Amino acid sequence: MQVNFQGVTADYRIGPIRSKNILQQVDLCLPSHSFTAIVGHTGAGKSSLLKTVNGLLLPKEGSIQVGDQTITSVLQSKDVLKRVRQSVGMVFQFPESQLFAETVEQDICFGPLNFGMPKQEAQKLAKDAITLVGLEETILSSSPFSLSGGQQRRVAIAGVLVMNPDVLVLDEPGAGLDPQGKEEILTLIKNLHETKGITTILVTHDMDDVARYADDVVVMEEGKVITYKPVHTFFDDVEQLKAWSLDLPEPRRFQLRLESETNVKLPNVCLTIEDLVAGLIEVGLA
Ligand SMILES: Nc1ncnc2c1ncn2[C@@H]1O[C@H](COP(=O)(O)OP(=O)(O)O)[C@@H](O)[C@H]1O
Ligand SMILES: [Mg+2]
Repeated sequence: MQVNFQGVTADYRIGPIRSKNILQQVDLCLPSHSFTAIVGHTGAGKSSLLKTVNGLLLPKEGSIQVGDQTITSVLQSKDVLKRVRQSVGMVFQFPESQLFAETVEQDICFGPLNFGMPKQEAQKLAKDAITLVGLEETILSSSPFSLSGGQQRRVAIAGVLVMNPDVLVLDEPGAGLDPQGKEEILTLIKNLHETKGITTILVTHDMDDVARYADDVVVMEEGKVITYKPVHTFFDDVEQLKAWSLDLPEPRRFQLRLESETNVKLPNVCLTIEDLVAGLIEVGLA
């Protein structure tokens, strides 16, 4: 499912008070089945942009098209938002903080029941979802609060996946997890993207995650999209990244150091260890 932002400007309102524009004229078209990372410094508007994808933040100007539904600034019909929320899965920062039910099963079933699904069907989907996130079915009868942080996060993600979303939006899904837990979650997301073709939008600070998991990168600054490129093109332009004070992924940093020390240029932009090994073999350094 495609997500198309057209001229999106948005602000926050608290009663009569309006903030300055948090999103400014965002034009961005993310094709069906794409995997896009959104990066940028704190306060750039990344989380706000994610919120517009399911209508949690409505645009002041412009529109967001999600599949064949269009979210606009005009009084939004409830039907549009309901349909959008059915197709967009939203994993917030620290999603485990929203677990609330007595059992994992009840927590995961909350969404489907809320959308009118019969209980038995919801329970069957909960089983599928818990397996999908790599947990045992027996955990369904546990209290979510008895689980480890990593397990809680998986349960929270299962509660989003159970709705079978066409678009999955994730805000720093690895934050606060140890490196292994983080890698497991992101590998899971990548696999889902590949097997189910879910259009995936991932906000992250970690350029190694961008390099490893995403196909395209968006950079945001002061509420604007300042670039949108395939990852290889993006990490090729080292000077530009420096100008934006953005890091490089570890393998790419290693590549640049090696190239400057040996005066040998590797044939590709290396974003993973595998890229590096292939490059080194090709130039005869390994
Ligand atoms: N609920 C809110 N009410 C008012 N201002 C907000 C709210 N949430 C975020 N902001 C402001 O919007 C701007 C963008 O924030 P955010 O989208 O969270 O950026 P990022 O996720 O890139 O760090 C910041 O200036 C932030 O202070
Ligand atoms: Mg944020």
